[in-house]
Amino acid sequence: MTGIKTAIAGTGSYLPEKVMTNDDWAKLVDTSDEWITTRSGIKERHFAAEGETTSDMVTTAAALAIEDAQISKDDIDMIIVATVSADNAYPSTGNWVQKKLGMRTIPSFDISAGCSGFLYGVIIADSFIKSGMAKNILVAGAEIMSRIINWEDRATCVLFGDGCGAAVLSAAKEEDQGILSTYWGADGNLGDLLVQPAGGSAIPASRESVEKKLHTVHMKGNEVFKHAVLRMQEAAMKAIELANLTSSDIDLYIPHQANVRIIDATIRRAGIPWEKTFVNIDKIANVSGATIPIALDQARKEGRLKRGDTLLMSAFGAGFTWGGIVVKM
Ligand code: ACO
Repeated sequence: MTGIKTAIAGTGSYLPEKVMTNDDWAKLVDTSDEWITTRSGIKERHFAAEGETTSDMVTTAAALAIEDAQISKDDIDMIIVATVSADNAYPSTGNWVQKKLGMRTIPSFDISAGCSGFLYGVIIADSFIKSGMAKNILVAGAEIMSRIINWEDRATCVLFGDGCGAAVLSAAKEEDQGILSTYWGADGNLGDLLVQPAGGSAIPASRESVEKKLHTVHMKGNEVFKHAVLRMQEAAMKAIELANLTSSDIDLYIPHQANVRIIDATIRRAGIPWEKTFVNIDKIANVSGATIPIALDQARKEGRLKRGDTLLMSAFGAGFTWGGIVVKM
């Protein structure tokens, strides 16, 4: 053990300008503001402009995070991008960001862990920093969900949004700051409940795959819901326990924002009050892997998360995957 701890040194985020409201969706599919709000808590979401790519969004958010960390892009030792809506199947979105920001030839890769992707990225970065193999790692979560939803499936299309959040993770300068615990897991047995079936080796692109809309999000919503509630609770409570803390020690909880009812059930079980829970699902919907880093940046900029605060984050997503992290800011 090196005794090194990993701190969140800087954050940045980016939301596309275009806002799509529930009423806008009601003009396209058989839905209503009332249904979407009651069932999910979502009121509006941001959608990327034509031609805008996932790596464009990461480039903007990453530059802000690097500036916020008061380091140079040349100080970054690794790029990790969590996304299920990458620019291309390959090269990785991270590599396009490396090019666009003019960064050194450092290792760069994407991870596919659905809505838990950013937390997976932070856990990977933490292990490299703790081992002394890297000092500063850029971890981003970025999604253009509007390009992979089925715009005719009311059960899924209204739930998602676009955006990006990024964080610079660095070896902590002060002893009283840094990641206190990490907890993660996955269950591939349940992969079929939330899947984008085509475009890979299982179902390569064909006229039929496009006609059947197999290149879009397929989700059995109410079944996913049950697992999401259990795993979000488990991830939050395990992360608190592994940090040798209790829920009353948490100053702010940033949950993944898939559904306000999942958040409500999680905080009731974990014993965290609403006032200490960061919720922005009404404004940005479910941005999959980008949700938590966007919320993290917003919480810091709004003054809800300050130096010395104990932050809990937990997520659940496609895979299934889940993760929980406690960090002293
Ligand atoms: N507008 C109006 N009615 C709708 C809509 C809509 N947009 N969508 C579905 N309905 C209807 C259904 O057809 C159904 O009608 P029926 O009873 O006549 O058959 C009814 O509403 C109820 O549908 P359910 O799917 O049972 O609704 P539920 O209460 O489960 O809410 C939701 C759906 C919001 C999707 C919820 O199940 C959920 O949040 N699931 C979890 C999502 C999640 O956590 N995903 C993981 C992360 S995402 C990732 O990793 C990429």
